[in-house]
This record gives sequence, structure tokens and C-alpha cells, in this order.
Amino acid sequence: MTTWASHDPSLKSVAGRTAYLLLHNTSEVVTPDPEGRTILRIPRGAVVFRDGRVLEIGPVGELTARHRDARPLNANGRLVTPGLVDCHTHMVFAGQRAREFQQRLAGADYAAIAAAGGGIRSTVRATEAAPEDALEKTLAARIERWRANGCTTVEVKSGYGLTPEAEIRLLQIMRGAVLRVPVHVHRTALVLHALPDEFRDRRDDYVRAVCERLLPLIQLRELATAVDVFCDPVAFTVEECRTVLERARELGFALHVHAEQMARFGGARLAAECGALSADHLESASSEDWRALAAAGTVGVLLPAAALTLGQALPRAEMLRESGARVAIATDFNPGTAPAQSLLECAALASRLCGFTAEEVLLALTWNAAKVLGAEADVGHLNPGAWGDAVVWECETLEELPYWLPSVRPDCVFMRGADLALPTIERRVWP
Ligand code: NIG
Ligand code: FE
Repeated sequence: MTTWASHDPSLKSVAGRTAYLLLHNTSEVVTPDPEGRTILRIPRGAVVFRDGRVLEIGPVGELTARHRDARPLNANGRLVTPGLVDCHTHMVFAGQRAREFQQRLAGADYAAIAAAGGGIRSTVRATEAAPEDALEKTLAARIERWRANGCTTVEVKSGYGLTPEAEIRLLQIMRGAVLRVPVHVHRTALVLHALPDEFRDRRDDYVRAVCERLLPLIQLRELATAVDVFCDPVAFTVEECRTVLERARELGFALHVHAEQMARFGGARLAAECGALSADHLESASSEDWRALAAAGTVGVLLPAAALTLGQALPRAEMLRESGARVAIATDFNPGTAPAQSLLECAALASRLCGFTAEEVLLALTWNAAKVLGAEADVGHLNPGAWGDAVVWECETLEELPYWLPSVRPDCVFMRGADLALPTIERRVWP
């Protein structure tokens, strides 16, 4: 769903003026290789963008000689990477749960707060009470904040609606908001998140309503391309999730699973069996679970902000390397477990907590995260043919990306080969 250029004439003219561009004077250009296995590093490299795509990367001397007609753009001796990909967020919600965070610090647990009507359900109430234009504006402003932090592709999940009607409302708000912002946005319907109170004794009816009413409607109206479920003792069982995932697969949706978050429960294996693109969280996953993900080609997504907020451990990098699975890192941005507004900050934490190298971190924020969205042909790297989405960072070496806290910031962010003004936090994204 990459609609911004076609909907905003001013952006089209920006893209027109910069259709053929040579980004030079970098400290280095770094990108995953075309298979997304290793990181290529080109010291003092250059990037050529043409008509929104990457035409070529390589040594600056060669590219300058070959592309004399390209408009030169000076990176001022700084690091250039692909635009980052945040492959797991819950950005469409109203309110905040800072008080609940304080309760948890004082010893209350997530499941008990949820059982008492707090947690996800309290955000559902706040979101229901918020007017649609306010939700849309907040979402657009959030996506712009992500772009200012170096993300050029962002996934957004619904999930704070619960009933079919309320979920459709959120998905429509998501569709409206993404037209306002120059970011590639992937929309996911999180259709099993928490059981609405009115279905407390009729769980099967709820699952049936999701399969028979909600999913076909989402497909018919093209409101999302992927479906997610929360497989957990505090949410939905493996069998309930399997029923919904199988129906979603029949309808042509890509699949994701919130798996092994509060306890080891079978979600990772389910994700592997269903051919899901990703299993996310995995704080309680075993090394066998990771091997199952590797065998199925399902990416394991780590959400360090959620683990840290709930006081959970993250897996060690050694175990992940041995499993052979691909690893992505995402914010999980949501008001309950991950009020985390910087993807790079989350990666800097994961680097410390798991033991990832800078190259592993970059792969987890680019190619692997793009694979979670089924978008690795287009984004998550700077190989010829990819969208011209790139970041010039306020630093010189790849090793600085997970190093500084707070994280380094982009100097400029290219979207489809165009250097668009970065928003300030206050920037208006509403007419
Ligand atoms: O990814 N695990 C389920 N959903 C969110 C938390 C939602 C909430 O607490 O509001 C998560 O952590
Ligand atoms: Fe999540």
C-alpha cells in the first residue's frame, strides 16, 4: 500500500525534480546483500537513484564517471543505510496507560490488570470514545515521527476495536491516515487480541464471527493485507488462532502470530505450521521453537521494549544464530507493553540485551523486517531495483547505530529517491 505519491501532487513534483540523483561523499554505504544474508559495506560509496528506485550502488569514483547527468547530493561524510522498517506496531489507539505502568512497577501483573478490566480493554474504551478525525490525525502524526526517526516502511495493526464493527472503523481510519504521509505503510488486521466481555461465555461464537463476518469484509473492502492473532493464555488458544489463521490464509491474507509472550504456549509452532511470515515476541520461546521457525522460513520478531516493560528476558544471540532463523527487531509500539517511539532505540537495547553485532542489528531492521511484510523485493536494502528509500545518519560508522543512547538521528531521509523535509514533532499532517 504505497499510495502517497499518487495522492499528493506536491510530492510528485518533488520526485520529478530529483528523478536522477547521485548521493556521494558518504563515510560508507551499508546494505544487506540481494539475498539478505550479509551486510555489504562500501567505504566512501555512492548511491544512484533514478525514477524513485535504486539504479546502482558502488565506489564513488566509478559511479560519478558513469552518471555525469545525475544531480549530485552531498552526504557530508556521513553513514548511509536503507530506510528502516518497523514491522510490528499497534499505532492506532487513543489515550495512554502510564498509571498502569506505575501499578506494574508496584507489583501488579499484566494478566491481573487485564482481568480487572484494565489493559487492552481500557485502551479499547478510550479508542471507541475518540472521534475518527482525532484518531486519524494522531496516527498520521505518529507515522511522521517514525519517518523522522529513519523508518521509511511501517506496519500498523488494528486490534483496539475488538468487535467486527469497531475493527472495521479502525482499519478505515488507518487507510485514511496512510494517504497523508510519505511512508510505505502495511496494514494488518489484529483480529484476535482480547475477547470482548459480551462473548465471555461464547468464545466459539466470537471466533466464528471473525471468520465468517469480519475477515471476508476486510478482504472485500481491501482494508488490510495481513492478519494477526494473539496466541497466549491471557488471550486466545492455539486452536482458536489456528481456525482464524486458516480462514485468513484461504482469503489470501499474509499471517502473523503474537507468540510465546507471557508463557510458552505453542504460538511459534502454529506460526511455522501455518506458513506465517512472522512469529512475534517469543520471550518464552525455546530453542526448538526457533528451529521450527527457521525450518519454515518464518521470521522471529523480537520486541525489546515490551520485554523490558514487562520485566522479561530476551533470548541470547548465540542461540538465535544456532537456530538459523531470521531475526527482526520492532518497536511493538502500543500504550500497554511498549510505549516505544524509536525503532533504533529498541535495537540499541536488543544489541545490549541479546548480544547482537551492529551488522546483525542492521539486518534485523531492514531486510529481515521487510521479509516480515513480504516486501523484501522492494524495501529493506539498497540493491538495484529497490525503492530509493535511504537514510543519511548523523554519524559516520555502522557501529554507531546501536551504540549511542539516545540513538543517532537521521540527517535526511530519502523516500523513493526524493529528499523530503523531515517533520518536526509538531508538524501538521492535517489540512
Ligand atoms: O504486543 N500482546 C498483545 N498486544 C500488545 C499489548 C497490548 C496492550 O497491552 O495494549 C503487545 O504487547
Ligand atoms: Fe504486539
